[in-house]
Amino acid sequence: MTRRLLGIDVGGSFIKAGVVDVDAGRLEGQTLSAPTPQPSTPEAMMPTIASLAAKLPAATGRVGLAFPVVVKSGRARTAANIDHAWIGADGAALIRRTLDRDALFLNDADAAGIAEMRLGAGRGHNGSVVMLTFGTGIGSALFIEGRLFPNTELGHMELNGMEAEKYASAHVKAMLNLDWRAWMDRVNVYLDRMQALFWPDLFILGGAISERFADFAPLLRCEAEVRPAHFGNQAGVIGAALAAAEADA
Ligand code: BGC
Repeated sequence: MTRRLLGIDVGGSFIKAGVVDVDAGRLEGQTLSAPTPQPSTPEAMMPTIASLAAKLPAATGRVGLAFPVVVKSGRARTAANIDHAWIGADGAALIRRTLDRDALFLNDADAAGIAEMRLGAGRGHNGSVVMLTFGTGIGSALFIEGRLFPNTELGHMELNGMEAEKYASAHVKAMLNLDWRAWMDRVNVYLDRMQALFWPDLFILGGAISERFADFAPLLRCEAEVRPAHFGNQAGVIGAALAAAEADA
């Protein structure tokens, strides 16, 4: 039987959802998205999630719920780009109440990394890999031999006296109207720091902006290999569903 799982990727700006054929490793149709309600509290967000799920094809198994938060023992412990009311929230319990389904609650960059390592740019890579997602913030996921070290928050690493994501995220590029060169000057500083601390074999760059890799790749200055995310901005949805399927197995 084909396993079709619902993946949900919540960001500071948009909520995306899609049904993933986890055996074939691809989306069933399109992902749907809606602006993240403001304030982005759990109560405000659940109706948006329910209406996205209702418009998608039927899914089976557990729901994968990726969020821009640290998740420990099923509960959010941080909330950087969403409402602080999320701190302490049990994401799976909220989904059970909203969709009447079991769920796996995990960090959004970890989900994107899982998609890329299982089926995308990092597939079959056995060395050390750093996945970075550039969006409203900067997310990170660290892998060694394909195994995840969860909940790294390397977007909050300090760079020149400020948080890296306040200096080099895609959101900062848009807000300051930085051209590719000006933004890459910042990203290169960040990658240099990552390189000096982790010496990964491979960096995978994700987020919607990774779909423009050809535009900025010539400006990258990095000792390690750098690849764009194969699944681009959909890696979080796909990875959330894959992680939920692994939790179901
Ligand atoms: C959050 C991370 C998240 C990243 C990307 C950061 O602000 O702290 O948990 O992975 O944004 O959304």
